[in-house]
Amino acid sequence: MHQIKLADNIYFLGFNDRRTNLFENIWPIPNGISYNSYLIDDEKVAIIDTTERQFIEDYLEKIQGIIGDRKIDYLIINHMEPDHSGALRAIRARYPDITLVGNKKTFGFIENFGMDPGKVLLVNDNDRLCLGKNNLQFQTIPMVHWPETMVTYDESNKIVFSGDAFGSYGTLDGGVFDDEINLDFYEVDVMRYFTNIVGKYCPHTQRAMKKLSGLEIKMIAATHGPIWRTDLNWVLSRYTKWSSYDMEQGVVIVYGSMYGHTQKMAEVIARQLSERGIKNIRVYDSSKTHSSYIINDIFKYKGFIVGSCAYNNALFPNVETLLATIEHMAPKAHYLGIFGNFLWNGGGVNNLKKFAEMIKWEMVGEPVEEKGSLKADKFQMCIDMGNAMADKLLQ
Ligand code: FEO
Repeated sequence: MHQIKLADNIYFLGFNDRRTNLFENIWPIPNGISYNSYLIDDEKVAIIDTTERQFIEDYLEKIQGIIGDRKIDYLIINHMEPDHSGALRAIRARYPDITLVGNKKTFGFIENFGMDPGKVLLVNDNDRLCLGKNNLQFQTIPMVHWPETMVTYDESNKIVFSGDAFGSYGTLDGGVFDDEINLDFYEVDVMRYFTNIVGKYCPHTQRAMKKLSGLEIKMIAATHGPIWRTDLNWVLSRYTKWSSYDMEQGVVIVYGSMYGHTQKMAEVIARQLSERGIKNIRVYDSSKTHSSYIINDIFKYKGFIVGSCAYNNALFPNVETLLATIEHMAPKAHYLGIFGNFLWNGGGVNNLKKFAEMIKWEMVGEPVEEKGSLKADKFQMCIDMGNAMADKLLQ
């Protein structure tokens, strides 16, 4: 295999996963994902994070291909999630004298995963580790994306090994560095990785970026996706925008509909938004589109309109699941409209009102609830909702 270098003595140890359908067993990854680890071959040898367990054998082989029979001195654990710590046990078994480098939360997680951390080096913010030529510095970035996460900064080459931060879904199909790749391919996957995995922790992401802004950074090497060495602003500007809830003028309309009546209401609202000049309108059937993509667009657009038919006197289950995901991810500061449909006792709109009370987004227009097929008065209310949302977005 090719040996891919970030600098004279820093190697990329990445693997492409095109088999897994759901990342974290939740989020669809039709374009796959890469798990990136790094090796610094200095007087002391260090690896930064490991890989997912399906790649253990190839991972060990790749390391041996670089350092031969030398030993690894340090395993730096930026993040303990198993997509990066999957080879920890195997590394410990192969290199029993290795020292694990992490912060105090890291070692607690190792124990809770049933492992004895063995020899450890506990690091705090600004602590340094000299490998010979390479001086490493550590900075914790809690909740990006777990409590123990930290970054490792190579002062010599000005590379930040950033863990999940600035990562992406999508495999590395030959190209590894941003200048080797047409980044259009990663446009949606970088954002989806952010909104699905890190998006719940926007304030933490902002704090992390502020902390890293004190470093001179020439390269960002994340644990997933491309390595940023040419146009760092491509990813940094996006993270700044997304983590500050800086949204575009547009509306996501999601509905749950069994026989099409609620869908018709969505179509009317969408058309009215269009007639008012709103160009970004995404209409989703909650039964068809995975919440990964819907959440992504909710982070992107300021307007959100949700409709549900009644289902056993409650919300349509897929709408209920989506709303629970939104509540969990807690995106901020949207305009919200609600609508729905019932035939006997209702249950859709009533529960959407409860969601509105909980999420505390600014309500737009009057809730619209039709009984059965869409008739003139509720048709007009759907038009009114489209107008009310357009007024807000255009003001
Ligand atoms: Fe890629 Fe939070 O693990």
